[in-house]
Amino acid sequence: MHPGLAEPATKEEWRRYLTATPPPAPDMPSPTEYHDMSSVARAQFNRARKAHHSAGVLVRTPDIERLHYELHRRLDVNRYQPAGARRGKVIDGPPTTGKSTLVKLFAADYENELRETEPERFVTDEGQEFVRDYVPVVYISIQAQTTPKDLSIAIADFLMQPYRKSATKSEITTLVLRAMRIVGTELVIIDDAHFLDVSLKEGKVANDHLKYLANYTAATFVYTGHDLEEGGLFLEGSAKSRATQTAGRNDLHRVTPFSIGTPAQAKEWVGVIASMEAALLLYQHQPGSLTRHHGRYLHERTGGSIASLSSLIRESAIEAVNSGAEAITREVMDRVTVDKSAAEHFEKATKLRTRKRNPPPARPGRAVEAPA
Ligand SMILES: Nc1ncnc2c1ncn2[C@@H]1O[C@H](COP(=O)(O)OP(=O)(O)O)[C@@H](O)[C@H]1O
Ligand SMILES: [Mg+2]
Repeated sequence: MHPGLAEPATKEEWRRYLTATPPPAPDMPSPTEYHDMSSVARAQFNRARKAHHSAGVLVRTPDIERLHYELHRRLDVNRYQPAGARRGKVIDGPPTTGKSTLVKLFAADYENELRETEPERFVTDEGQEFVRDYVPVVYISIQAQTTPKDLSIAIADFLMQPYRKSATKSEITTLVLRAMRIVGTELVIIDDAHFLDVSLKEGKVANDHLKYLANYTAATFVYTGHDLEEGGLFLEGSAKSRATQTAGRNDLHRVTPFSIGTPAQAKEWVGVIASMEAALLLYQHQPGSLTRHHGRYLHERTGGSIASLSSLIRESAIEAVNSGAEAITREVMDRVTVDKSAAEHFEKATKLRTRKRNPPPARPGRAVEAPA
């Protein structure tokens, strides 16, 4: 799968996402062969290496494995449950913690497994009165200030269901509910649900709408977003303490940036770095040097965000090719910039460390004598 693709907005784009493959890793010629290459051959080879580095690797972190397992179990429980609302999942966490990646990876695994084990369901019956095109997964990435009607429209667009321009919210909603029933939708992912308009007036409407959708389909709903709990989406009106049925019938999972406070946490962090390091195609890189020597530095640079880590390592790999360093060293990483919030985190962490190493003099006013 190619992690760099734009979010799929229709079932056809989703199917392309399912089958897209990242640029393959080119074979590494020996250092002598590399040295003796013509400049054109070397440029081609380096372009292929950089494409591979640019795509990076998707790491199946322990958190991802845990949540995938639970999502799978929830879908199994829900599949043949009699009519009525099914329990869904809410995945809540700050931006860049890998939520979209996690849910898309799950949905892709889920559909690919169905395609492999039940291929007959994916055959379209052209001879029938209408063509039934099995769509087990609906993935909706919400944009800023989406109203309930926009959400129904996004589902209709995903299913490529035409609707009249003048259609009302309830007409389009009825249409998509019917369509999801016909095409056998089992999983609906609402990504970035915090963008649903939950201003006081719309808030209750958005909640009721989500409830309505979930009530009248056989699908399991999975929502991602940040501050969903506090944002009022799953709460009634302005009284934030009163949980709605939506809150009641979905379990909440929190995702957070990586910590390295305990040995177990540090081990998970280092494991992620190791997976990324293993994909490097560089001539001078000491295997394992990032995990052995730079785990803490990488945590300070990225604040434990997997997005910042991926970006820092991928860009450093490209810098290592371009500069001829052929290794990701501390110097190479220092030359690469990261996003603003990670950079701020680094600044704070370094200041804190400098202060710890050089504590201010115990009694102010008395200069510490410099050693002779
Ligand atoms: N498991 C992962 N392995 C490697 N890179 C990841 C992983 N999860 C996220 N990333 C990187 O972080 C970026 C942002 O992740 P994303 O899932 O969009 O975060 P969120 O939805 O929480 O904001 C991705 O485009 C990818 O480059
Ligand atoms: Mg996201």
